Amino acid sequence: MEVIIMDTYEEISAAAARVIADLVHNKPDAVLGLATGSTPLGLYKELIRMHKKEGLNFSKVTTFNLDEYVGLTPDHPQSYHYFMNENLFKHINVQPQNTHVPSGTTDDFFSFCEWYEDKIEEFGGIDIQVLGIGGDGHIAFNEPGSSLASRTRVKTLAKQTIDDNARFFSRAEDVPVYAITMGVGTILEAEICLLVANGKGKADAVAAAIEGPVSAACTASALQLHPQAMYFIDEAAASKLKMRDYYKWIQEKKPDAPNC
Ligand code: GLP
Repeated sequence: MEVIIMDTYEEISAAAARVIADLVHNKPDAVLGLATGSTPLGLYKELIRMHKKEGLNFSKVTTFNLDEYVGLTPDHPQSYHYFMNENLFKHINVQPQNTHVPSGTTDDFFSFCEWYEDKIEEFGGIDIQVLGIGGDGHIAFNEPGSSLASRTRVKTLAKQTIDDNARFFSRAEDVPVYAITMGVGTILEAEICLLVANGKGKADAVAAAIEGPVSAACTASALQLHPQAMYFIDEAAASKLKMRDYYKWIQEKKPDAPNC
């Protein structure tokens, strides 16, 4: 695990975007796994800036999103389809047919989930999976108790997640109770997992994920089993890490470390 702690949200967003941009430069037909939520917004803004100002080219890139609310159509303003179009896709030159967001309105969720998994495999797997983290330590919509081997499926959302996400809906009772989500096992198959987190509200979840036991109670902790997991976190989100100083020290010493 690489834990990169920076002072501000802007810095972590720019640094995380740089990792993605480097991949896209080196591998123009890269497969990106994308996340929603407010945290990746800074990273997406930076990718849009790089596209517009530096010519970062997404024309051969394929994307797969982590999740979608069950029952929301792609044009629903709170759907993750809509979020991705508004906050990323329509501002860059990714081909719409190369973008994939799970369907919240399929009439056969079981078959759709299998199809989604097959599609990721058909494209050779995900090169970099962007992740946020929920207040209870979940990744995508893998709520506490999700199997760490889980695959794409329908999940019932936890009360805390419904409450946390109520701020995006006009009424709390409008927040969907179910979501379709990539599983923890699906996420762990990405070549690189890149998690962004900021703010004091994420400090407990970040500490549990990085320094707690690997446990279904905090599905982000499964990233401890991943060979290339990167955390980009600001000081507030890092404030409960016991080994904060060591993570900072590693980054400081990184330029002089021998290659292996
Ligand atoms: C939802 C999403 C997650 C996201 C989480 C945190 O539960 N399914 O992918 O990480 O919200 O969102 P935010 O970044 O807004 O705190």
